Amino acid sequence: ADGDADAGKKVFRKCKACHAVGDGAKNKVGPHLNGIVDNEIASIEDFKYSAIFIEKKGEGFVWTVEELDGYLEKPKTYLPGNKMSFAGLKKEKDRQNVIAYLKTFE
Ligand code: HEM
Repeated sequence: ADGDADAGKKVFRKCKACHAVGDGAKNKVGPHLNGIVDNEIASIEDFKYSAIFIEKKGEGFVWTVEELDGYLEKPKTYLPGNKMSFAGLKKEKDRQNVIAYLKTFE
């Protein structure tokens, strides 16, 4: 089922300390997330990603909805060694909604 982007905007409050989206979004602790859905991992030129992200990029890893769902559920175990210090979103609905919100930013 598709998520609700309006509800996802509220979920994104949990991400905002580290990630920006929208016009003029800049990198913070994490990279900006414009255009992230269906984009290749680690594609922001001026962001210093972890070794595991760079390795996955070499393998052609793409942030499909499925991969985003898995990563956002358990960031630490989904891509071991990645540097996103976030416990994850336990509720599937929250993940679907925040992904729907991210989809609204090209
Ligand atoms: C990476 C989403 C919360 C820090 C990423 C990526 C996504 C993402 C999609 C991959 C970016 C890419 O490949 O360019 C989210 C969402 C969050 C969230 C939706 C909230 C639900 C946070 C928080 C922090 C954070 C709270 C900081 C405490 C980072 C960092 C990376 C990252 C540092 C780069 C990881 C690495 O290079 O290993 N995030 N994030 N994120 N995020 Fe988050």
